Amino acid sequence: MRRKLAAGNWKMNGLRADLAELENLPQDQGVDVLICLPTTLIPAARDLPLAIGGQDCHAATHGAHTGDISAPMLVDAGATYVLTGHSERRSDHGETDADVAAKSKAAHETGLITIICIGETLAIRAAGTTLDIIDGQLAKSVPDCATAENTLIAYEPVWAIGTGKVPSTDQIAEVHAHIHARLAERFSDGADFGILYGGSVKSSNAAEIFAVPHVTGALVGGASLKAADFAPIVTALAAS
Ligand code: PGA
Repeated sequence: MRRKLAAGNWKMNGLRADLAELENLPQDQGVDVLICLPTTLIPAARDLPLAIGGQDCHAATHGAHTGDISAPMLVDAGATYVLTGHSERRSDHGETDADVAAKSKAAHETGLITIICIGETLAIRAAGTTLDIIDGQLAKSVPDCATAENTLIAYEPVWAIGTGKVPSTDQIAEVHAHIHARLAERFSDGADFGILYGGSVKSSNAAEIFAVPHVTGALVGGASLKAADFAPIVTALAAS
């Protein structure tokens, strides 16, 4: 089974000077620490003592796709992970579940570990169909080549991302148990997939979220930008 993972997502934030924030994060606490950086920062971050990821990759290895980045390019730059299907990619760029599956497959073929992001909108939550949407996203965004070694799932309710709103621990528990069960049904090693929670994780709520069954780490946006905010989240995961 994969170790617990504290994953940061810098989104479209950060210049080279900001990489100093990553120099003194807690290490050797028995959990993996990852930061998914803007592509421009990956080469400069590759020697830091933590794992580096991209935030998206194209489904093709190369070609006429102006502005895009392929999985082999991320590996060449120094990444070992990539996010796929983040809700901001789905909403800003119209990415579908099929796109996410194709990108994830391309990442696996290149040896990258994917963190495939899924989650419901507030309207879906209000309609009471969250688990149905999660089922559809899992079925269509996670490719058949996924294994516990090359894939983690990040459950990120869209309404909790960057809003300061966090689901109750019961709500997180329900969805994580559901994801765990579905993966175990579909994949021979499905019970071993890491399942991260993401959406307004901060030092003040990390410990209670990490105590929820089947939460094996976090995907952290805003609170990953500063070491003072991210370090206590890493420590809380190690203590969980
Ligand atoms: P947030 O973002 O922690 O700022 O809510 C999480 C994410 O988008 O992965």
